[in-house]
Amino acid sequence: MLEHLKANNRAWADRKIAADPSFFKRLVGQQGPEYLWIGCSDSRVPANEIVDLDPGELFVHRNVANLAPPQDANYLSVLQFAVDVLKVKHVMVVGHYGCGGISAAVDGQRRGLVDHWLHPIREVAHDHRHELEALPGEEARLDRLCELNVIRQVRNVASDVFVQDAWARGQALFVHGWVYSIADGLITDLDVTVKDRADMERMG
Ligand code: CO
Repeated sequence: MLEHLKANNRAWADRKIAADPSFFKRLVGQQGPEYLWIGCSDSRVPANEIVDLDPGELFVHRNVANLAPPQDANYLSVLQFAVDVLKVKHVMVVGHYGCGGISAAVDGQRRGLVDHWLHPIREVAHDHRHELEALPGEEARLDRLCELNVIRQVRNVASDVFVQDAWARGQALFVHGWVYSIADGLITDLDVTVKDRADMERMG
């Protein structure tokens, strides 16, 4: 079963070793990534590949619609490990235009459990309904909602106690908001980077 994937894997490992004979040996010792990527599960948004980073360089957490819900033990465990143990310097929340999770959150259809998961996006849409309603067309509204969702998740990460404690003890930690475009492969920085509590308060 899945012999093509196993063959792909062997060829990939061979290429890595051909380019750098000690590549895997170095990774066995430890991982020292500088970045935590919080992104969407969408198969078109593969974290390492988009930013051209090797194994060992990017700590990754992905879920539907790149959420950072303050009550989600999975996300919180990843965040604490990344901040307290790995001591990553950057956390990037990465949304993407054309996100199915974003559109599913606001299209009014019932899908079951995922409706609960997507509830925070409906809250963002409600909080920004005047701005969104003023935009011309559904695509523009959904694109903007992708951005607004990223900004909200950046705020969630930055207001988390693990992050607040890291800042209080002087640890350098930047929280960024990015949006990726599937159409051209490019990342847009939303310029909402938070690096300390003062930034956080300015964000409102
Ligand atoms: Co998505």
